[in-house]
Amino acid sequence: MFDIDQEQRRGAAYEAARGRYNTTTELIADAQKRLGDQRWDYIAGGTESEASLKRNRMGIDSLALRPRVMRNVLNTDTSREFLGRRQRLPLFLAPVGGLHTICDGGAALPARAAREFGVDFMQSSVTEPGMQEVSAEAGDHWLFQLYVFGDFNWIRDYMLRSIDLGVKGFCVTVDSDHYSRRERNLIRHLDARADNPRGRGDPKWRQQFDWDVFDKMRQVSDIPLMLKGIMRPEDAELCTQHGVDVVYISNHGGRQLDHGLGSIEVLPEIVEAVAGRARVVIDGGFLRGTDILKALILGADMVALGKLQAIAVGAAGEAGVHRMLEILEEEISIDMKLLGVNKLDDLDASYLTNAQPTEAPSVFSTFPLLRYWGMREKGEL
Ligand SMILES: Cc1cc2nc3c(=O)[nH]c(=O)nc-3n(C[C@H](O)[C@H](O)[C@H](O)COP(=O)(O)O)c2cc1C
Repeated sequence: MFDIDQEQRRGAAYEAARGRYNTTTELIADAQKRLGDQRWDYIAGGTESEASLKRNRMGIDSLALRPRVMRNVLNTDTSREFLGRRQRLPLFLAPVGGLHTICDGGAALPARAAREFGVDFMQSSVTEPGMQEVSAEAGDHWLFQLYVFGDFNWIRDYMLRSIDLGVKGFCVTVDSDHYSRRERNLIRHLDARADNPRGRGDPKWRQQFDWDVFDKMRQVSDIPLMLKGIMRPEDAELCTQHGVDVVYISNHGGRQLDHGLGSIEVLPEIVEAVAGRARVVIDGGFLRGTDILKALILGADMVALGKLQAIAVGAAGEAGVHRMLEILEEEISIDMKLLGVNKLDDLDASYLTNAQPTEAPSVFSTFPLLRYWGMREKGEL
């Protein structure tokens, strides 16, 4: 039911976030302050040496844009069609487990912000609240991601429940056959799974998940199926052979296998292998409008946001996520004008070239003002 008070409160919170955050830099600085070291490190960290995490950024920062000029760019359109529905931006919110440990209300908050804004929200199976509540918040923008903790019947049960709740795409994460050694968490004695009943389960089921099980899933329904964690063209080719609708390129934000490639580094070969037979989406290190446009130029249909979403939740809950999306929209729209295109489909390989990164890649190297901020806070400036 439409609740006027609730709508007014939401409007006021969105307005307050507009007043408070002009930039993503400020959202990040605020989240870091509010969350405290342990929760911050859970969000920001990667596995072991964090090489995969840094390569996500290195891959993006090693590409430069090549603009065209003298074109009429009065009517830039940042929207894109995905799984049969138009999205206001070419992105969706990636599955993030444990959102309830970051903010009261958990996954319901980014789900609502995504629906209000007009982009998809992919719910992780290891976050609170459950599917019923979150699907109601996300409405037509609800996607669901499953970690496999059971046999085929267990998976089918999740599929059928999500179909009942109106899911627009069902995703299985396949890069997590074992939880990795995340040293920031280990040093702080944080076991993210211990705080999270949905996240506890025998990893043997994930270790046994293979194409035979997927083939049985494909028989259950024709809803769009996505596999998350594809990093090689051979696996992308198998995806298309087995009827995967969306090949989801991801190294889990550098949180699973260390010393892998950055996800954008494998995008061109995977787009080539898929050759239009499935949609290709990607995540890993995407934090700015220019980052997202680079992936689209290389052939991604959509880009997903993990850390940035969790940070926005940590800074200001639902309003923080909505503001983060507004800032990205402004960046993408301005970037399109400066590149000389009105439509995302007008971008092609000629708009991109290889280049040296301008900063040593690290998780937030694309926000150099954070350093300035830290120095100012410490009185060093
Ligand atoms: C705090 C946190 C929790 C995550 N939980 C999940 C999860 O439950 N399921 C999943 O498939 N991926 C999970 N991921 C990975 C994201 O879906 C995504 O692949 C990754 O964050 C993308 O990289 P980015 O953080 O640089 O955007 C998580 C990521 C973060 C930061």
